[in-house]
Amino acid sequence: MSLKNASILTAGQFSDSEIETIFALTRQFKDEFQRKKRIDHLVESDGLRQRIVSLAFFEPSTRTRLSFQTAAYRLGVKTVSLDNLSVSSMSKGESQMDTVKNLVAMQPDALVVRYGTSQDMDEVIRKLEVPVINGGSGIQEHPTQALLDAFTIKEAKGKIAGEKVLIIGDVVHSRVANSNLTMLRRLGAEVAICAPEEFTPHNKEWNDVKVFSDVNSGIRWASVCMCLRIQKERHTMSNIGLSMAAYRERYRLGSAQLKLFDKDGIILHPGPAVRGVEISSRAMEDSRSRILTQVQNGVFLRAALIALILGLEVRRL
Ligand code: NCD
Repeated sequence: MSLKNASILTAGQFSDSEIETIFALTRQFKDEFQRKKRIDHLVESDGLRQRIVSLAFFEPSTRTRLSFQTAAYRLGVKTVSLDNLSVSSMSKGESQMDTVKNLVAMQPDALVVRYGTSQDMDEVIRKLEVPVINGGSGIQEHPTQALLDAFTIKEAKGKIAGEKVLIIGDVVHSRVANSNLTMLRRLGAEVAICAPEEFTPHNKEWNDVKVFSDVNSGIRWASVCMCLRIQKERHTMSNIGLSMAAYRERYRLGSAQLKLFDKDGIILHPGPAVRGVEISSRAMEDSRSRILTQVQNGVFLRAALIALILGLEVRRL
């Protein structure tokens, strides 16, 4: 089994041993970075010569894009990034698909791509000649976020199996929720949601997921609480049937919920967080919050994926 030259497209694609390999390398990179503030010395330098990862983000991103770039630089791998679409030839009418095909024609060693829901793009990226990492596609998939969330839960709680993960908020429009459902369940966690009807998914994957109608009963049940931003840019309806004030009142993780939450529980949020809407400032800064740990782990997890996909020789300590 090897992830060399593999594409990372869905949260459901991994074997158990692949997940173990990814987590073990993430752990090694994180521990070594804590000791030495670098990880590049673990990588066989010959393999790094001229390695280039290309990044194409057609939707906004802070954490995912910059953590892939930071991860690559930490390894000694170079990146090229299509950051500002208004200065790319897309402003002249070129499509996303042609843009991707042209980036691949430059023969990078891997491509990281983020795009809105598009079956055409899903098909194009499956057929590219370079390994592709999905940095978030539409409302469907965000496999690297699911991996880093699972790694963060395991690190904080010592295990994933048996953990009770409550996902609160705009579940139906969230690729993070979809990929996490797949990843966390296969690793043995129980997943439940708390969302207004408009944000509750009804497709078969979510059929037998427990639904809490009020956040307080959900939070009493949970050992892990994951808050989600309202995905306004993906809403087709003009209003969600709830005022913002009512939404906050019913679905925000705030002081009242913090009191009900397990003292050993952890709070996650994939970011970007909108303080005061889905999560209060107090909850973000609570001692149980692992929101910035998720961001930190994202760098080492993505470094592990890049190293495995590029087939870099990593010295095991
Ligand atoms: C999320 C995304 O883009 O799917 N952010 C991320 O990658 N960490 C979540 C969001 O935009 O709300």
